[in-house]
Amino acid sequence: MDIKTIGVVGAGTMGQGIAQVLLRSGYSAILCDSSAAFLAKGRERVEKGLARDVEKGRLSTDERDRALVQLNVSTDLEPVATADFIIEAVTESFAVKAQVLGELDKRARLQVSLASNTSSISITRLAAATGRPTQFLGLHFFNPVPVMKLVEVVPGLETSNETLETAERLATSLGKTPVRVNDFPGFVSNRVLMPMINEAIFAVMEGVAEPQALDAVMKLGMNHPMGPLELADFIGLDVCLDIMKVLYDGFRDSKYRPCPLLEKMVAAGRLGRKSGRGFYEYKS
Ligand code: 3HC
Repeated sequence: MDIKTIGVVGAGTMGQGIAQVLLRSGYSAILCDSSAAFLAKGRERVEKGLARDVEKGRLSTDERDRALVQLNVSTDLEPVATADFIIEAVTESFAVKAQVLGELDKRARLQVSLASNTSSISITRLAAATGRPTQFLGLHFFNPVPVMKLVEVVPGLETSNETLETAERLATSLGKTPVRVNDFPGFVSNRVLMPMINEAIFAVMEGVAEPQALDAVMKLGMNHPMGPLELADFIGLDVCLDIMKVLYDGFRDSKYRPCPLLEKMVAAGRLGRKSGRGFYEYKS
């Protein structure tokens, strides 16, 4: 099927970024969120992102204007049913995702594939919440979406080759590099990244180093663009905790147990950049 219009459900950080990348690559995007406030913020961020693309010479003003016309937003799932491909990027909870995917499955045309941007939940399990497991897969984008090159492409047990190839072509057309990995908790990215972040938090809890010193070691010694604690704040400590829980539940191996300090910080509402405070403080 010729893909022209793509539905993005969830206007949080990832949904906004995905919509921006779709628009600058010439697709029409329907951005949907049940919260009107989130949608308004999402539209504003997409507009700012595209303005930045013009500033940096990645888009002409004409292309930007054409892209903005191709953006539709909705608090209702109904318009998304007209899309040729749908990417779900709602909150990282199996129950919420399964409910949204079930609704999308009822509305979307039969030939349309559904993708989830889940960071760690089983694709096979999410596929089973739809009536189209052969046309379902994981498409895991990275934050900030307009900048990061990778898309993890994750087949569920029933995903067809046709669905995978369509999704890989789509990712490539967005200027991304698709990398196919199998459906295991955390896939590759978060299975490797999150235990590093979790271990960094253990090191802080045990008094091995202050956050600044720990991050300096990883930035200056390993050439990481951000230290693990800075990155945890950037991703959101609640998201890091949720992913550690998925790893722990999925593998039943104590090496994935969430650090108590991470649990404590999330309980206190210190979620990182989005709440203004995590391992560091941020001005809004
Ligand atoms: N949103 C959109 N664009 C952003 C951004 C954001 N939050 N933060 C930075 N950028 C853009 C800037 O606008 C700039 O683009 P431009 O100048 O070409 O327009 C570009 O990124 C570089 O930014 P800066 O020069 O200001 O800063 P840095 O060179 O320090 O780069 C960074 C910022 C790209 C965020 C870099 O620090 C980095 O790569 N950090 C690691 C990010 C990372 O690991 N992401 C993956 C997280 S894990 C994940 O997403 C998976 C999930 O499942 C948890």
